[in-house]
Amino acid sequence: MPGADLVLGIESSCDETAAAVVQHGSHTLSSVVASQIATHARYGGVVPELASREHLRAIVPVVRAALTQANITLGDLDAIAVTNGPGLAGALLVGIAYAKSLAFAQNLPLIAVNHLEGHIHAVLLNERSMQDGELPLDTEPALALVVSGGHTHLYLASPINGMWNYTLVGRTLDDAAGEAFDKVAKLLGLGYPGGPWIDSLALHGNPRSVPFAFSQIKTKLHLAGKPPRTKAAVTAPIADLDTHFLFSFSGIKTAVLRYVELHNLRPEAESRRDALFTGPDAPTCPTVEDALAHCDQLTLDLIASFQYAVVGDLMKKTFAAAESLGATRILVTGGVAANRELRLRLNAEAARRNLRLSFPTLALSTDNAAMIAAAAWPRLQARQFASADLSADPSLALGR
Ligand code: KG4
Ligand code: ZN
Repeated sequence: MPGADLVLGIESSCDETAAAVVQHGSHTLSSVVASQIATHARYGGVVPELASREHLRAIVPVVRAALTQANITLGDLDAIAVTNGPGLAGALLVGIAYAKSLAFAQNLPLIAVNHLEGHIHAVLLNERSMQDGELPLDTEPALALVVSGGHTHLYLASPINGMWNYTLVGRTLDDAAGEAFDKVAKLLGLGYPGGPWIDSLALHGNPRSVPFAFSQIKTKLHLAGKPPRTKAAVTAPIADLDTHFLFSFSGIKTAVLRYVELHNLRPEAESRRDALFTGPDAPTCPTVEDALAHCDQLTLDLIASFQYAVVGDLMKKTFAAAESLGATRILVTGGVAANRELRLRLNAEAARRNLRLSFPTLALSTDNAAMIAAAAWPRLQARQFASADLSADPSLALGR
């Protein structure tokens, strides 16, 4: 199938080994994701050494499966795209080393893709795949909220002759929103990753029972020369950003912890963890119904209130940024974009404000390689290839 504009994408930045074949940056022929959730779940978070080992095990079968499902061979490809950062160094290196060797052996161009740009292209891929026939070039700038386990970033994404430019507009000063979901779920004895558990259990609680509040970030907090508190915060300067578009999710995590202690919910959380995950009688694959049977109303109300507050904060700052920048189009992407309440409330507010809002499909919201292949498509056309000494950049930033 020579000249069919086929890109093989490879993604291994965190705890998912993924490969996908995408045609013209718009048509997904295959997308295979091998999740390591079972490996990391018992630790309540990703263990970097285990992640690298699992990527090594999975990378060859996952790439083979992507080619088989797309019904093509390596010889049919036009390029190989791989995530080169940000992410876990050892995990990234597995994908990069494999992509490089395939590109070298097949004499194919290698394209390096920023994982965050990948997430943004998950939405664009989804939009393009829904359009039939000739694809009009994107011309309108969009405000992109990338909200995942490692990032909560706002970018202005501007298309210029088929390529995209990114300007950082806002970001978290500490934890990412997904990280807050994961930590709160862990505290409450729920599974990893925490987002999907909280998403499902929140439906059974009263979101207004605990009035969690986010305070406005003060200018001096980030201008006082304080070192950023997390690794992720090192990746981009924050001094010149509008404080109204800065996020902070470590406070709500502490507020939930206080609530748990005040209401003596810890013993119950421990027995919940035992009953659902670690105890001898724990089910092999606990369901939401199993979790519901081990949650009292106070805990369900706490979960619903936590989610309501986080979603409210994400909404408020995203729409404020869109308004301030005059953006009429908003893209929301990353693992947390799978959240039902986030989708519902953002959609309702966008409709009220007459703004165009897009999400990826649920499968494209969390880490996958179709978004990497899609992000590589404009680079293939512009012949922006990576050199043979491409390496992992764990704190790679996107845009300025
Ligand atoms: O994009 P992703 O797969 O990996 C990173 O790049 O981090 O995002 C994973 C994050 C985790 O923190 C997970 O708890 C969160 O996305 N997540 C959710 C939901 N599904 C996944 N958070 C809230 N609601 C969900 N339904
Ligand atoms: Zn991601």
